[in-house]
Amino acid sequence: YYLMKILSVNIDHVASLRSARKEKYPEPIKAAILVELAGADGITVHLREDRRHIREKDISQIKEIINIPLTVEVGLDTKRIEFLLDIKPHQITLVPEVTTEVTTTRGFNIKNEFNQIKPFIEKIKKADILVSLFIEPNKENCTLAKKIGADIVELNTNKLTHSTLPNNLTAYLKELEEVAKYAYSNGLKVHVGHGLDYSHIKFLKPIEVITGYSIGFSIITRSLYEGISRAVKDMLTLIKD
Ligand code: PXP
Repeated sequence: YYLMKILSVNIDHVASLRSARKEKYPEPIKAAILVELAGADGITVHLREDRRHIREKDISQIKEIINIPLTVEVGLDTKRIEFLLDIKPHQITLVPEVTTEVTTTRGFNIKNEFNQIKPFIEKIKKADILVSLFIEPNKENCTLAKKIGADIVELNTNKLTHSTLPNNLTAYLKELEEVAKYAYSNGLKVHVGHGLDYSHIKFLKPIEVITGYSIGFSIITRSLYEGISRAVKDMLTLIKD
């Protein structure tokens, strides 16, 4: 049998660029439209406590205009989650949030946070929204994710990033595969994300039960590299012709 693989593209960093200049553009909704037209299976955004990239208005616009599933990542915060229950994205991914972090640094270790996570999962499920938990990849977390009512686990892949690539990659991948298979056999959907770039896919693709990829930074980076020469040429034409 063959399990379909889906890519949900995280467009947070389009909004980071907007924030860097405190401008009205680049607009995440425009990027979302292009991502959809390019054939992606979904759009992902992270509504952070400090709203440093994506804001509520972006999410409302994307939800209204985009026709592919929207996933919103969010920390355990009542106010933001109430907003999302109203907006009804396809999926909410709960993530542990640390106010000062540059990006999400770890997945949940559910054992330590079970009682904090549970009421949010109940509310999200009641609103008929899929719920994913971003976890550190181990079997205990998968057992608890099922017990707590999650539909999906997103295994934190940040160990695959350039700065932390494990010395023993084969052993790391074997363990990841075991955890992924364990989650799948427990009835969970298995996604991966965080820090994934184009060079990592060949390692993960053989793990059949991994069906979802949540990728942002590397795609937005490549879009710059791919687009910059055209952008320069367009300006040169205006100036010199
Ligand atoms: N998955 C989760 C849970 C995240 O928090 C993020 C970053 O917002 C991503 C995936 C995407 O990571 P990256 O931008 O490094 O591809």
